[in-house]
Amino acid sequence: MGKPFVAGNWKMNTDSHSAVELAESIAGGSVSLAGEKVTVAVCPPFVYLRDVANSLHLSYVAVGAQDIYFESKGAFTGEISASMLKDVGCTYVLCGHSERRHVIGETEELVNKKVVAAISGGLLPILCVGELLSEREASQTEEVVTRHLKSGLAGLSDEKVLAVTVAYEPVWAIGTGRTATPQQAQQVHAFIRKLLNEMYDDQAAAEIRILYGGSVKPNNTADLMREKDIDGLLVGGASLNADDFLAIIQAAV
Ligand code: 13P
Repeated sequence: MGKPFVAGNWKMNTDSHSAVELAESIAGGSVSLAGEKVTVAVCPPFVYLRDVANSLHLSYVAVGAQDIYFESKGAFTGEISASMLKDVGCTYVLCGHSERRHVIGETEELVNKKVVAAISGGLLPILCVGELLSEREASQTEEVVTRHLKSGLAGLSDEKVLAVTVAYEPVWAIGTGRTATPQQAQQVHAFIRKLLNEMYDDQAAAEIRILYGGSVKPNNTADLMREKDIDGLLVGGASLNADDFLAIIQAAV
């Protein structure tokens, strides 16, 4: 496995002051890790990206956006392009987060266009996949994950897909305090790895990192990270507290 990757998704939280303060506490508090052992990114709301990126400029903590639009410019009121995200200092971008799929109503086709546009624009997409509770209970987890993965990555070559990180986020574990057990997560991660093996060459299947997300906390990080196919974590609530997020980074090394 390559370097573990821990990303914090701040969702629709913080303000202009607390966003920078949180970023600085994260960067300042984990200097000893120096980004050598773990890749770290934070994903603040769009409006604070520039300030957060500026405050993290000399640190090892990278910045990601929570969403992107696939067109490069024009009459798309309210939308944000890849070049705008690059311009304000983003390296990563979340695509197809379950809240965007299920609350905002993004389709699989749209998510795919976003992944493709992110890569064309020089960003590294984090493609989120994962089943609803009803789908898990109906034994449809593999079917849903296959659909999300195949549609999300449609049209990407072996070379291009290397830019992608996959995040498995079972919707029933997001914000609920109900984490998937390490075994439940590993089972799906191994399945995703198998799918990547079928879809791409050996290098891509081996190198694409698969993150777990859903109620990750300092006290469950180490157990999750021990699993073979869990290459990192996508953290929501616990990434809003610098001490918790730092403890997660530390435990992921
Ligand atoms: P929580 O860690 O708050 O469950 O959120 C997970 C998530 O959705 C990260 O993208």
